[in-house]
Amino acid sequence: MNSIATDAGNAGRKAHATAGAASVEDRRLGTWAPRRPIPPIVRGEGCELIAENGDRYLDLTAGYGVCCLGYNHPAIVDAIKSQADRLTFCPLNVSSAVRAEYVEALAAVLPATLDRVFPCNSGTEAVEGALKFAALVTRRSQSVALRSSFHGRTLGALAMTWNPAARRPYDGLLHDAVFVQPEAEAIEQAVSEETAAVVLEPVQGEGGVNVLGDDLLLAARRACDRHGALLILDEVQTGFGRCGNWFAHQHTPGLEPDLMAMAKGIGSGFPLGAIAYGGRVAEALRPGSHGSTYGGNPLACAAGLAVVETLRRLGLPERAAAMGGRFADSLRSRFASNPRVREVRGRGLMIGVVLRERAGRHIARLATEHRILALPAGPNVIRLLPPLTVTEEELERGAEAIQAVLGGE
Ligand SMILES: Cc1ncc(COP(=O)(O)O)c(C=O)c1O
Repeated sequence: MNSIATDAGNAGRKAHATAGAASVEDRRLGTWAPRRPIPPIVRGEGCELIAENGDRYLDLTAGYGVCCLGYNHPAIVDAIKSQADRLTFCPLNVSSAVRAEYVEALAAVLPATLDRVFPCNSGTEAVEGALKFAALVTRRSQSVALRSSFHGRTLGALAMTWNPAARRPYDGLLHDAVFVQPEAEAIEQAVSEETAAVVLEPVQGEGGVNVLGDDLLLAARRACDRHGALLILDEVQTGFGRCGNWFAHQHTPGLEPDLMAMAKGIGSGFPLGAIAYGGRVAEALRPGSHGSTYGGNPLACAAGLAVVETLRRLGLPERAAAMGGRFADSLRSRFASNPRVREVRGRGLMIGVVLRERAGRHIARLATEHRILALPAGPNVIRLLPPLTVTEEELERGAEAIQAVLGGE
């Protein structure tokens, strides 16, 4: 290796060790998200993140719900490594063998009416593209979204996001969104001849692990049909087995979206997103209607293919349904008489412990005192999104730690 590069690398590592990764990140990146006061993480294995001092953290969030197969699952690592040996990039204007194999495999697990896929790189990009497609099909620019929704951070997706902390700084600068209470009647009243799309998460993640009922979801479908609008389901967090089905909306018989946004679990840690569509949308799209340089790149496709095959081979969506149901029941019985806990809700391995008080300090104690990572969802909810490969023992350890932090103080 070139000695200048080696020296620079050594100097960089030294600075890193002296200043600490967290303070380097604060200085160079700014603090985009509140960072937990735990040592820098250097490795991942199964459901655990391993710090540079050797401490192991049980991550019951799968890293924002991303690593559905846990950290560094051998199927993903091998797929990425062997693809990297062959080809790391292939533009969309030439055919790619791994991309073709991937989209066939993906189509086999998608709802039958969504038979086309636009590959992209993240959740917000998937939502953004879905909104753009809906505008193109309907020639309308207003959309209906729910209070407590979260759809991403780019301009269109942010416009559909309720979370005031994310949206308020941009008030007056975003697209036209109508926010309604998560109620069937409110949606039916809000949708009109001006509506391009209704955008929903079947289970609201950031907003509090709110499971939307069949009546609401079907009412949204009907309202869209009545007014020529499109139904966009944001399954970025709920998809790929998380909620005990390939996609959470499949729990609602007869519900067929026009567009579905996917990310997070779709790549189990590799940056990958996709928009699934069919019917009216497929008819309206033309070459040039949309694009993405990195969308469908070979590394992402190899990772995505390994995710689909592994979820299928291990039956992880079904396992998430069974395990999540047992875990939620066990949390309910643990907290039945705990005055701090209002309820335990969720679907599959997407679970919220809803408190009567703010959740933040309990989540911080879980990390610092018990080496368990959990997420907030809204102010009062402890959100659990463990890898779908989590064991009963790991869930039990998590439940005990939650009980310890919530227990009599
Ligand atoms: C439901 C939902 N939609 C969209 C997004 C945005 O995804 P990304 O952060 O990959 O852009 C998120 C991220 O948390 C999400 O939970």
